[in-house]
Amino acid sequence: MVRRAEELEKRDPLGCAYRRSDVADFRAPEPVDVIVAVYSLGYSRTAEQLCRFCQACYDALRPGGRFVGLNDNVRNPPPGTGSLEKYGLLRTCAQPPSEGDVIQWTITNPDGRRFDLQNFYLTRETYENAFRATGFSEFRWVDLQLQPSERGNPFWDDFLAQAPIVGFAATR
Ligand SMILES: C[S@@+](CC[C@H](N)C(=O)[O-])C[C@H]1O[C@@H](n2cnc3c(N)ncnc32)[C@H](O)[C@@H]1O
Repeated sequence: MVRRAEELEKRDPLGCAYRRSDVADFRAPEPVDVIVAVYSLGYSRTAEQLCRFCQACYDALRPGGRFVGLNDNVRNPPPGTGSLEKYGLLRTCAQPPSEGDVIQWTITNPDGRRFDLQNFYLTRETYENAFRATGFSEFRWVDLQLQPSERGNPFWDDFLAQAPIVGFAATR
């Protein structure tokens, strides 16, 4: 991913620099305004790993800075398989899931290519506690919304009814 991002930066410069590091070890050279973590927190298998992740992000932000992203929707543990398949998604895990259980994703691209990835289940309370314990002054889950051109399209009803992902926003 970093190599691909660097290729794109060369072709269409945005002024981005890319570094490879465990998030928990990342230290920003100076306080930053915003941290975006898309499909990243779910790689924490334990509450302790999640806290280290949140702490590194908290430490890197300026006071009032925001930590936002998308994550596996731990408010809505996977009910099984099936109705997300029309979106190219298969999301399975133990029923009911326990802390640290694998969440297995199989994702099918529109061109038919498939890839798998594994995240880990932690309860919503573990997430909320991690943000609180780290010192964030505000934490909230952010429900998905359709872009205006798709609103009212019944194709998305099943997706929204059991949204497999959720946004979050925290403020230092
Ligand atoms: C599902 S990808 C999402 C990447 C990107 N945010 C995006 O939306 O395309 C998650 C990436 O995070 C990496 N990752 C997992 N745990 C990490 C950690 N502790 N520190 C840094 N990267 C991690 C994985 O190797 C994987 O490349």
